[in-house]
Amino acid sequence: MTSIEEPTDALLERAARWLVQGRLVAFPTETVYGLGGDARNDRAIAAIYGAKGRPQFNPLIIHVDTPDKLPALVTMTDVAWKAAHAFCPGPLTLVLPRAATCPVSLLASAGLPSLAVRIPSHPIATRLLALAAIPIAAPSANASGKLSPTSAAHVIESLGGNVDLVIDGGETNVGVESTVLDLTTDRPTILRHGGTPKEQLEAVLGPVIEALHDDAAPKSPGMLTSHYAPGRLVRLNVTQATPREAFLTFGDESHLTGGACHLNLSPTGDLQEAAAHLFAMLRRLDDPRYSGIAVAPIPMTGLGAAINDRLSRAAAPREA
Ligand code: TXA
Ligand code: MG
Repeated sequence: MTSIEEPTDALLERAARWLVQGRLVAFPTETVYGLGGDARNDRAIAAIYGAKGRPQFNPLIIHVDTPDKLPALVTMTDVAWKAAHAFCPGPLTLVLPRAATCPVSLLASAGLPSLAVRIPSHPIATRLLALAAIPIAAPSANASGKLSPTSAAHVIESLGGNVDLVIDGGETNVGVESTVLDLTTDRPTILRHGGTPKEQLEAVLGPVIEALHDDAAPKSPGMLTSHYAPGRLVRLNVTQATPREAFLTFGDESHLTGGACHLNLSPTGDLQEAAAHLFAMLRRLDDPRYSGIAVAPIPMTGLGAAINDRLSRAAAPREA
């Protein structure tokens, strides 16, 4: 039986012990809930892949509580330190060369010479990582290809009994996953848009490029086109919904028509609020009462890049 529990000191201490023993614990981060396991332990990593039903080639992000833990895992370049000082803790994942003595399971990084590392800013994640004092591999705590969970209840819905413990930290506030930034290339390269907008990265790091989608050989398998798939068909940039579609809107609705119901990601047109609501609202509208989900246009600036990226995957033709 999976238990959902409040984050008391005693619970966090138990969760940290369980992680060290190789068990899986789902915990909140500021982006989405993660399914955590000891990154050094092949069996724990295999259990994560198993719980998610994840293709084995998908490498995992390794989480630690403070930047001083990074050099034991990856080779920190000048630009890596610059990024870490400016954005960590926070919704940014850095892909760097694996350090020679890195203890992380090769299974966790799918045998790649690089490793993705992240320092989450959610206080429960920070305390859990500090108590466990080991690197924690944590993909989003959902079944592979499904929506990322932004609450403890979503984790149970998606993973069922495949996780021993879910630490309940309420709803996550960023709501989309971290931005994945590859620093092994000549120019910093965004592999996945996410909670840290490109504009903010460029203000600190200079020009940042965006990886092209390439389904045949995804550099970051989070780039697979159909991903984050709700059960219902999703249509984007809609201003006229059909009478049976659920309508996911943004900002002012006066130019929008149709829809069996409306849910507004942010009535005031705030992209941060919209990101926080995105996955939970898609879940609510993914209901057999509706013929599909129509989504109103959402600007591409700031967090809009990550929101539109997730929506275009939700709308993509489904993989077999
Ligand atoms: O916000 C987040 O990043 C959440 C929370 C729980 O931290 N985690 C998350 O993990 O979204 P996951 O496993 O669902 O996504 C990891 C992404 C994938 O797109 C994966 O391909 C990419 O990071 N990735 C991991 N290691 C990589 C590497 N060595 N090179 C390139 N991409 C990598
Ligand atoms: Mg994921």
